[in-house]
Amino acid sequence: MGHTRKAVLVFAALLAIAAARQTSAPSQTPAPAQAPAPAQTPAVRQIPGITAKDPYPNGCVDCHVAGRDADMRMSVLMTQWMVAVPAALVDKAKAASADATKIKGKHPAVPNAKTNLPQTCAGVCHKAGSTIAPPFGRLLHLIHLTGGAKNRFLTAQQGDCTHCHKLDQKTGAWKTASGSEK
Ligand code: HEC
Ligand code: HEC
Repeated sequence: MGHTRKAVLVFAALLAIAAARQTSAPSQTPAPAQAPAPAQTPAVRQIPGITAKDPYPNGCVDCHVAGRDADMRMSVLMTQWMVAVPAALVDKAKAASADATKIKGKHPAVPNAKTNLPQTCAGVCHKAGSTIAPPFGRLLHLIHLTGGAKNRFLTAQQGDCTHCHKLDQKTGAWKTASGSEK
């Protein structure tokens, strides 16, 4: 056997080994890239009357009830205000009024303090733009939405706009709940 022939054979053998290695070696193809984890859809925000149960469908009168700790009924508060309105509430009434000098710290007697609240009040003396009494929008927002952690509407009741303002899910119209004391 000549040198050239030997070299060719050795070369052929090396090729064969290399080929064998390639076929038997486990596939080195990288694992397919992991599909991105499906985006976690955040839970729907819980808004009473919109996406969550509405605990106070009739507004004021469903929340202002005779409770264990205090009698919060509007008619009961009204009886107290005919004697004297608490100082903190007088301050809010003044702040919400067009003319603070009209606020004397006593509420006049009303014949129907249990019926159709707040419409009975907001439709007459406490209407928007009133100059004789604090308009209810401004007064009730000051009472319920200010004071942060000191305000029980915001703490104990987890108060929300929708506790008073109700959305008609069919028409998109808002209306302020009104109802009568039981
Ligand atoms: C979800 C419960 C809730 C609803 C609905 C609600 N209130 Fe209140 N309201 C409260 C709480 C709680 C307070 C006491 C807030 C605080 O800690 O100062 C309060 C306070 C008041 C006060 C002041 C009482 C005082 O002596 O200082 C008035 C007046 C009042 N609410 C009227 C209304 C009217 C009118 C409506 C309806 C348009 C209404 N509220 C709806 C819970 C409610
Ligand atoms: C305690 C009850 C109550 C709560 C809570 C409340 N509102 Fe009102 N809001 C009223 C009343 C009563 C009116 C007067 C108009 C009416 O009778 O619809 C009013 C009126 C309004 C008006 C009309 C302008 C005005 O001031 O009269 C806007 C705007 C408004 N509210 C926005 C809000 C928003 C936003 C929230 C929540 C961050 C909210 N309200 C929470 C009772 C409330």
